[in-house]
Amino acid sequence: MSQTLARVKPSPTIAITNRARELAAEGRDIISLSAGEPDFDTPAHIREAAKAAIDAGHTRYTAVDGIPELKKAICAKFKRENGLDYTPAQITVGTGGKQILYNALMATLNPGDEVIIPAPYWVSYPDMVLLAGGTPVAIEAEMQHGYRISPEQLEAAITDKTKWVILNSPSNPTGAGYGADHLRALADVLLRHPDVWVLADDIYEHLVFDDFKFSTIAEIEPKLKDRTLTMNGVSKAYAMTGWRIGYGAAPEILIKAMSKLQSQSTSNPSSISQYAALAALEGPQDYIAESRAVFERRRDLVVAALNEAPGIVCPKPEGRSTSIPRSAI
Ligand SMILES: Cc1ncc(COP(=O)(O)O)c(C=O)c1O
Repeated sequence: MSQTLARVKPSPTIAITNRARELAAEGRDIISLSAGEPDFDTPAHIREAAKAAIDAGHTRYTAVDGIPELKKAICAKFKRENGLDYTPAQITVGTGGKQILYNALMATLNPGDEVIIPAPYWVSYPDMVLLAGGTPVAIEAEMQHGYRISPEQLEAAITDKTKWVILNSPSNPTGAGYGADHLRALADVLLRHPDVWVLADDIYEHLVFDDFKFSTIAEIEPKLKDRTLTMNGVSKAYAMTGWRIGYGAAPEILIKAMSKLQSQSTSNPSSISQYAALAALEGPQDYIAESRAVFERRRDLVVAALNEAPGIVCPKPEGRSTSIPRSAI
């Protein structure tokens, strides 16, 4: 096996998910708290759009990084929900948000380049960085600070080798959300370091609770937009994890580099899933609020139960929920 592969370990999330499946198959009553996967069905109008896409013959290779209609819908989404102006040439569509992150890191990292990752983190970040030949640099986001890193911690972690800072809000696994004020303070640090790029992983944008208002860094500080990759996708927002569609918005130079990589790896994301994602972004958005209310109830239930357990203290996260099956609540 290659030396590259020796640098990384398999995804622990997937290992735990598989183990939970095995135990459930043995008839055990298992609640898996591993993968961030909504347990709802994909909304009916999205499923219908996918069937219609098959019948309409959208079953062939597509443009490498997304059909034009979907890119346009993604631009409209960024404008509508995030106040961000992007052109289709600044958009890339991939096989899940995961491929967007992977493409970005593979397309940009050279040996010795550092990537700052607030911890606790989604387990794939450091391994993707290692696969791409870079060096992950973790900053501890502590419980007493709401599991958010401070501007001082960010400043101290940046070196002349730093290529990317990954910001994931709401965070997997803590659910911590960076509001506009927190992002503003981090943006002020980043403005002092013009060579550092920002990777905003906004995949949990819609899983926010109470009165938390989601923001993303390119919206908070437009001067950072020219060196930010804003990543998002339909997996978590529309219960579409298996359809594998994620997208990113960034300066054209990065989008082109990522497309080059994709053209030599997966060619294009599934044509049918792209039409389903188009329906998700352009169709009714009711599912988001409905599922959010259920996730919020689950969060309250789990946080209360954990805090009742002796020796466990669990702050209330601003966002992201677990995949507790409906039967368990
Ligand atoms: C923080 C974070 N980013 C990105 C992803 C990738 O999601 P997908 O590839 O399904 O779009 C996940 C999935 O669990 C995640 O937790």
